Order: sequence, then structure tokens, then C-alpha cells
Amino acid sequence: MKLDIVTIFPDYFAPLDVSLLGKARRTGLLDVRVHDLREWTHDRHRTVDDTPYGGGPGMVMKPEPWGEVLDTVAPPGSDPAPRLVVPTPSGRPFTQAMAAELAAEPWLVFACGRYEGIDSRVVDEARTRMRVDEVSLGDFVLAGGEVAVLVMVEAVGRLLPGVLGNADSVTDDSFAPGPMESLLEGPVYTKPPLWRDRPVPEVLLSGNHGAIARWRRDEALRRTARNRPDLLVRMDPGSLDEHDRRV
Ligand code: ADE
Repeated sequence: MKLDIVTIFPDYFAPLDVSLLGKARRTGLLDVRVHDLREWTHDRHRTVDDTPYGGGPGMVMKPEPWGEVLDTVAPPGSDPAPRLVVPTPSGRPFTQAMAAELAAEPWLVFACGRYEGIDSRVVDEARTRMRVDEVSLGDFVLAGGEVAVLVMVEAVGRLLPGVLGNADSVTDDSFAPGPMESLLEGPVYTKPPLWRDRPVPEVLLSGNHGAIARWRRDEALRRTARNRPDLLVRMDPGSLDEHDRRV
């Protein structure tokens, strides 16, 4: 998968050399290029922002450098065209389903806004030649899109075939499609079986796979009810059995 990231802070993306994604880059599964937006300015101060029309606080990112960088990174007529992802608190919520959808694309471009955002004509114009998704990580405001892009690249990158060592770890995730969909993952344990007077739940040592699966589902239901009751409310009632309802 090819990823182009446009930012005024390329240093934010140093973590993409570390761990899973670093390895995916080194082995060629991920081809990541980070572009400094200021390279597409033409004034002495390399200006990327200006005051907002209509007044108000803060600054808005100027359209010209954005237009030029997008034309360079994804020249008009590119076939296939990339999908452009613009992180913004006013976007659609980022979900595991969206991560999976993005992971199926051959080429993503991420545009990191700062300040009050990017002049809206940039997205409007980009939409005439590529799919554009304005995406929010949640109901909070970051200082810019860089950290949001790191989050999305990690969520997408780990879904690419060959990036995770153990293919099962993706299917077991919270929010992954399947029987545990819309349930949070329950608690996990490893050796030793007794630590600071705290035993590992006995069922996990029993070797009884049916009982273990049932216990995991119960724990997932309890944790979801406690931490994310909104997920249980949204669940298809047909996906809950009699035992689930008693938990
Ligand atoms: N940029 C600033 N805040 C953001 C958020 N919550 N999600 C995505 N991008 C952002």
C-alpha cells in the first residue's frame, strides 16, 4: 500500500519507522512518503496560513500550497486516483469498519491541517478527481491532524496482510466483524498462574474450549455494559442468546 502524508511537521512521523509499521516499511508492505507542505510555498517566509474571511480567531491554511502539493503527489489523471483522507474534528467518525475499508485501498493520501483548518476549496476541488473523506477521531480537538494520521495509519497498517505476525490477532479485536462484533475484548492473562495472591481465572487453565469461549463472551458483555453501554443498545438483539441476556 502506498501512503503519502502532507504536513508542516514531517518530524511527527518518526514513529512510522518503529515496531510493526517500521518493519512493514522496511519489507516493502508499506510505502510511506512524508511531504513538507512548506516546500510548495513561494515566499521568503514559506507562509502556509492566513486570517479567516468573515473574521474570527485563529488562522486558516492557504489553498495554494495545498493545491500544488496535491497536484504533485497525485497528479490529475492518476489512475487509479488515491483516496484523500483529511483528519478534522468536523469529519465522520473513524471506526474499525473505516480502517478495514481504507486497508483495501492501494493508495491513500493524508492531508494534515493545523490551526483552524484548511481553506474549504481544497477539499471541494480534490473531490472533483478523487474520493475524499473528512474523518474525526472523536469528540475532542487535537492541535492538528498529525497525531490523528498516526492513529489511522497504525489502525489501517496492522490490517494489511503480512503486517501482524499472527493473523488471528486481527479477528479477535474489539470491533472486528464476527460473533464478538460490537463487544469489547475482555481481560487477558499470562503466566504465572498466581501473582501477588491473584490467581488467573480457573476456567482459562481448564483446557475446556467451549467453557473458555463462553467465559470470554460473558466477560466481554460485562465490560461492554460497564464501559460502552451505547454499543450494547445498538446491538442486533438476534445476536444475543439466552445466556447473554442473563449476564
Ligand atoms: N484534528 C483536530 N482534532 C481532530 C480530531 N478529533 N480528529 C481528527 N482530526 C483532528
